[in-house]
Amino acid sequence: MDGLIIEQSAAGVHKKGAEILRHVVRERSVRGETTAIALSGGSTPLGMYRLLAREPYRSELPWNDVHLFWVDERCVPPDHPASNYGAARRELLDRVAIPPSNVHPMAGELAPLAGAVRYGDEIGEFFHMAPPEIPTFDLVFLGVGNDGHTASLFPGQISLDERKKWVIAVKGGNPNVHRLTLTLLVLNQAKKLVFMVSGREKAEIVQRVLQGPRENLPAQLIRPSGETPSWLLDREAARLLNEKRRNGDEHDTFE
Ligand code: 6PG
Repeated sequence: MDGLIIEQSAAGVHKKGAEILRHVVRERSVRGETTAIALSGGSTPLGMYRLLAREPYRSELPWNDVHLFWVDERCVPPDHPASNYGAARRELLDRVAIPPSNVHPMAGELAPLAGAVRYGDEIGEFFHMAPPEIPTFDLVFLGVGNDGHTASLFPGQISLDERKKWVIAVKGGNPNVHRLTLTLLVLNQAKKLVFMVSGREKAEIVQRVLQGPRENLPAQLIRPSGETPSWLLDREAARLLNEKRRNGDEHDTFE
């Protein structure tokens, strides 16, 4: 069942996201296991990063047991304003005691193809595997664009058909630049997938993805067969979802 979690505000979405991350990390840490998390880019997760960089998460989370990866990156240097890693560094990584070796950014500064190969190697090294095996992230956060893209998987692009590579180079989005992205192969292998979406301008695409016809929008291709992902929305982003869906087998959590 896809978990539809509707929070009162964007701040509620950030808090719930932080709570989900804390729950997954602590559940694994008490068993002596690390947690491999793939972070989304874009602006939505930044509020969650700011929360995680403050108490109680700052001191409470066992950061030594957390490994951070990215679902996608713009092919720009880390200090570029469009860098997803750069944003996470400013809002979170520079403010918590996570060992540098636990932070696995995509090499946006390299040529796209080289960056894709490099990241595939880094993931393989961490998970001690190589294709055709598929790495399993413990937790993946995703956003959705108004065109239904997620990560840097854009509608109609051949990237959606990739069934061998874990990381590929693409071009598109806003900004329309070269990007690196995890493929559906890897994203759909994750143990837990959470879409974090907030804001009035996302209501239409949320309704289209969740209640519209199957259009093979990238966000609709996330785990169509297995356990579908959780959708963590604020009321603004959820406002076009019909009541049945909102109050049916899913629950509204109002912070
Ligand atoms: C990126 C993101 C992208 C993002 C969506 C939503 O690098 O652009 O990974 O997929 O999640 O575009 O972006 P916002 O959170 O800024 O709305």
